[in-house]
Amino acid sequence: MQTERKKITIAQPTGKLGILIPGMGAVTTTFLAGLESLRRGLYPPYGSLAQMGHIRLGRRDLGRQPRIKDVVPLARLEDIECAGWDVFPDNCYQAAQKAGVLTPEQIETVKDYLCAIQPMPAVFDRRFVKKLDGPNVKRGKTLWDKHLMLEEDIAEFRARTKAQRLVMIWCGSTEAYQTLSSVHETLEAFEHGLKNNDPAISPSMVYAYTALKNRIPYINGAPHFTTDIPALLELAHLNGVPIAGKDFKTGQTLMKTIIAPGLKARLLGIDGWFSTNILGNRDGEVLEDPESFKSKEVSKLSVLDTILQPELYPELYRNINHIVRINYYPPRGDNKEGWDNIDIFGWMGRRMQIKINFLCRDSILAAPLVLDLILFTDLAQRANMPGIQEWLSFYFKSPMTAPSVYPEHDLFIQLTKLKNTLRYIIGEEMITHLGIEYYHYFE
Ligand SMILES: NC(=O)c1ccc[n+]([C@@H]2O[C@H](COP(=O)([O-])OP(=O)(O)OC[C@H]3O[C@@H](n4cnc5c(N)ncnc54)[C@H](O)[C@@H]3O)[C@@H](O)[C@H]2O)c1
Repeated sequence: MQTERKKITIAQPTGKLGILIPGMGAVTTTFLAGLESLRRGLYPPYGSLAQMGHIRLGRRDLGRQPRIKDVVPLARLEDIECAGWDVFPDNCYQAAQKAGVLTPEQIETVKDYLCAIQPMPAVFDRRFVKKLDGPNVKRGKTLWDKHLMLEEDIAEFRARTKAQRLVMIWCGSTEAYQTLSSVHETLEAFEHGLKNNDPAISPSMVYAYTALKNRIPYINGAPHFTTDIPALLELAHLNGVPIAGKDFKTGQTLMKTIIAPGLKARLLGIDGWFSTNILGNRDGEVLEDPESFKSKEVSKLSVLDTILQPELYPELYRNINHIVRINYYPPRGDNKEGWDNIDIFGWMGRRMQIKINFLCRDSILAAPLVLDLILFTDLAQRANMPGIQEWLSFYFKSPMTAPSVYPEHDLFIQLTKLKNTLRYIIGEEMITHLGIEYYHYFE
């Protein structure tokens, strides 16, 4: 059955696309160095579906497999301008050196570009990120004043770059875990809270409020709540702005959402899944704080349940011991090492084990996601798709969804969803993989 189709009008991506980034640490500087290197033709866009990926259009025997970027009207890399905020005043060249993700040669090659990006003073509150303290912060009496300062920053950036469209993407530290409170419930309460410094409003919420108020799409790369609160959802709908999140799906959780669907597909049972990591970057240091780790843990733990559906398969998945640990271990820097031990069982209950040792570079995995997310979210804005962008679940550990549905965590379902959404937007047929049209079964 084909979904009922509407003709979708997509505004063309003319002019500059401005990217605003709260948090200019490892992920951001790796993204920026990579973006500029791509523009200079130094590397293929490894890891970017928007740039490298192909999409099948129509029947399989037609052989139509164009690149996504050749059939979907995405912004051109040459048209992207970037700016951001950070608690530390280092320019992006210095921050990239400190992050230690790229080789010195890779950083030197784009030194001029990185040096020119100087973080603007941040909206920051140590209560939400206990492990950090830096001097490059906005001073203002109320959160409302700080919101107005962010608006000034954005207006200045817009005027300087002549950006016609903007997207904001949070690549800042993980904020402390929090639950919903009354100030988050309505836009009115939230705005009142900004003016009265309500302690339940986090800095990321001030950035997001400023973005949505100015009709700028907002993407959350970290696991904490930001646009998940009713007040900001309300604002996104009121102003017709896309939002997407949360927590970039890289490293161990990426592996988990690749392996778990396979085990489930073969109906292999799981007794336990023990995941542990060592990492030594600033993200690891921030996550040493139990409250920041709690945000991460909630995000990391949620994936297995929705993939494995223990309510449908109690014999296989009812009693999984799922444990996630992150250990801050400075010698390792950004080169995280993750171990997974999976205890599984099969035919006649015989037990087996799987061990995964992933020596990954987190920011190398995250940078292409930043690129894809800004390009696709800008597309969503131009295609008039306000609110939650569930079709971008592919990129997140804790995908935002409509309240009536559970999130899809299976990477392959997420990829199908993303590609079908692109087909839908550009007016192509959905692909169901049924495939009986190539045979003669029911004639
Ligand atoms: N690297 C990955 O693969 C990955 C995966 C999933 C999620 N994330 C999340 O992405 C975020 C960035 O990761 P990273 O490795 O670049 O971390 P990082 O520590 O290198 O960079 C974060 C930067 O944010 C800044 N910051 C903190 N609070 C801020 C605020 N209120 N305003 C502006 N700047 C602020 C910090 O000073 C720091 O420079 C983290 O929340 C992390 O959990 C990263």
